Amino acid sequence: MEFKFSEKVSHLQASAIREILKYSADPQVISFAAGSPAPEALPAKELEELSKELLAEEPSVAFQYGLTEGYTPLRDEVKKILKDRGVFNPEYDEVIITSGAQQANELSAKVLCNEGDVILAEKPSFIGSLNAFKSYRVYLKGVTLETDGVNIAELEEKLKEGGVKLVYLIPNFQNPTGNTMSWEKRKAAFELCKKYGAVILEDNPYGDLRFAGEDVKSIKTLDTEGSVIYSGTFSKILSPGIRVGYVCAHKDIVQKIVVCKQVADVHSTMWSQMLAYRFLKKYDLDEHLAKLRRVYEHKTNLMLSEIDKNFSSKITHTNPQGGLFIWCTLPEGVTTQQMVDFCTTAVKDYKVAIVPGTAFNINDDDESRSFRMNFSTPTDENIIKGCEILGKLSKEMFGE
Ligand SMILES: Cc1ncc(COP(=O)(O)O)c(C=O)c1O
Repeated sequence: MEFKFSEKVSHLQASAIREILKYSADPQVISFAAGSPAPEALPAKELEELSKELLAEEPSVAFQYGLTEGYTPLRDEVKKILKDRGVFNPEYDEVIITSGAQQANELSAKVLCNEGDVILAEKPSFIGSLNAFKSYRVYLKGVTLETDGVNIAELEEKLKEGGVKLVYLIPNFQNPTGNTMSWEKRKAAFELCKKYGAVILEDNPYGDLRFAGEDVKSIKTLDTEGSVIYSGTFSKILSPGIRVGYVCAHKDIVQKIVVCKQVADVHSTMWSQMLAYRFLKKYDLDEHLAKLRRVYEHKTNLMLSEIDKNFSSKITHTNPQGGLFIWCTLPEGVTTQQMVDFCTTAVKDYKVAIVPGTAFNINDDDESRSFRMNFSTPTDENIIKGCEILGKLSKEMFGE
């Protein structure tokens, strides 16, 4: 049967990352393609213990329906953490627990955007959110991302063009580039969005994974009337498999998200929300985060030094101070097709998976000569081996 898919989804493509991950399933492939936490950073033992306790002590709560807003003790705990960071304003904000930040971002766009509305996003940006936005038939426009955040003049230009409902920003250790937005740019972007009546969706899955430099306060801390939606997640600090994230936003926005979440999946899994809550109660979050930061600092530094040692000197890269990604850029003059060929040859013939920059395009025909490398999942040995292989290939294709 030939299916006639809805206009909402017929233009959506399977993510190029998923395609590359298919090759990564081959145990011989060294994968720098994923965005998962380091296996050694997952608190698996602690979660196992907590699961046992939870199932012994509160099975009837864990296996029952729960509130769409989320498991109340966890919501309260999240509010407390966010209030301490100046993100949650008890006067008008609310928090809803979602199934990961993915759902937080998707539902935020759903409650605000009509078909044809404009969403501005950093160019390049996170494919999962871009696809979610596209499914609402919005008009996506990219704003050039620089090392310290979006180009502010260009942001204003695009806001001036009109129709912008939402500005999607990943200010900390951005996916895919690893770049962090400066405080000056956060303030400027906030003021501009306020001036032009656009809501900011601040997506912060990596903020807790800073291993160098100074923390930069969240854009939401500038908010005085609810013009910023903040989305967070336990995926990168506890476990992505438990699917627990959250939205902190003006209570009117959260109320609408609650209705939409009820339609989508009734509520997030009780068992995993309770597990996240028990983790926060039993363990010291700061100590846990310090442990993760040490793991990522080591892996980033190793990958950066292996890139510098092995890659063609014509390739440049970002120097992230946290998060999970390094963004490499091929020499000027290299075409998008040559970049894609490099990534495809690397995985098919040399068994090293990296993600082509086109996977993070705002529009399908955007050019890119960059690729994303993840340092959290491979072992040290594979970081060294994989960088050697990519280095040889890069020199063959682009010169010393
Ligand atoms: C920028 C960004 N936002 C959201 C998500 C989704 O995270 P979650 O696992 O919480 O749904 C990711 C995951 O990689 C991400 O990189």
